[in-house]
Amino acid sequence: MTSTRAVSVTRARKSFDSREVLHDVSFGIDRGEVVSLIGPSGAGKSTLLRCLTLLDTFDEGSLSYGDLEVTSRGEDGRAVYDKEAMRQARMRFGIVFQNYNLFPHFTVMRNVCDAPVVVQHRDKAEVEAEARVLLDRIGLSDHADKVPCQLSGGQQQRVAICRALAMKPDVIYFDEATSALDPKLTDDMHRIIRELASDGMAVGIVTHEMGFARDASDRICFLFDGQIVEDGPANQVINDPVDPRTRAFLSSPED
Ligand SMILES: Nc1ncnc2c1ncn2[C@@H]1O[C@H](COP(=O)(O)OP(=O)(O)OP(=O)(O)O)[C@@H](O)[C@H]1O
Ligand SMILES: [Mg+2]
Repeated sequence: MTSTRAVSVTRARKSFDSREVLHDVSFGIDRGEVVSLIGPSGAGKSTLLRCLTLLDTFDEGSLSYGDLEVTSRGEDGRAVYDKEAMRQARMRFGIVFQNYNLFPHFTVMRNVCDAPVVVQHRDKAEVEAEARVLLDRIGLSDHADKVPCQLSGGQQQRVAICRALAMKPDVIYFDEATSALDPKLTDDMHRIIRELASDGMAVGIVTHEMGFARDASDRICFLFDGQIVEDGPANQVINDPVDPRTRAFLSSPED
């Protein structure tokens, strides 16, 4: 494993009841790299993302964020999660959810600053000063005192991005971040994602939009029935896939 890996999962398995939905999945994102996870409905993309973001747990396999080992291998081969490592790992990633999940009664500023102040116990004035820089960079400086319902969908999404970035994560995940955005906002998202990567952040994207995946990513992983069956440069996976299952999916995406 190279030291540039910001997040890494090795040989992960996950079952719901007795049905295994992730089979021996290994996946990682390097610093400065944008990776999209694509695949048919039910393939396990959200499950993998939920486990990477500690909203759920892998049954087997190992998970690390940089040099931080979140799991160890138990005697029975099960993944054992370390509580303190989980707490620290949560400060190393941010996630932008499909529905943004902003606090509706908080202003934009408070939405962005809440976690760094409450969870990371950082100085409020300092966090707010950084938040102003982030909001400015992302074109939202005039909206800091509004509440989410006073903003458009695209603006709410950018608030969600600022909120994730305020934690200064090493990895940022986007869950279906471009659905419901018009072409101009999709272009903006593309630009923001490239900027984050050029700052050295690792970016993970789950998307159903193949054009976006191809244009925004360095690498694409194709998940099929709980397994990564293709993993390669974005252009190659979309334009010239090797695995027949990727080819079939791309020639008739079901979504
Ligand atoms: N909480 C759960 N309990 C039981 N089964 C689940 C649960 N969550 C997901 N599954 C099952 O795990 C499999 C993978 O689901 P997942 O939501 O990860 O797919 P996905 O690739 O994100 O699909 P989509 O593109 O439709 O969002 C599916 O068969 C699903 O029914
Ligand atoms: Mg999903």
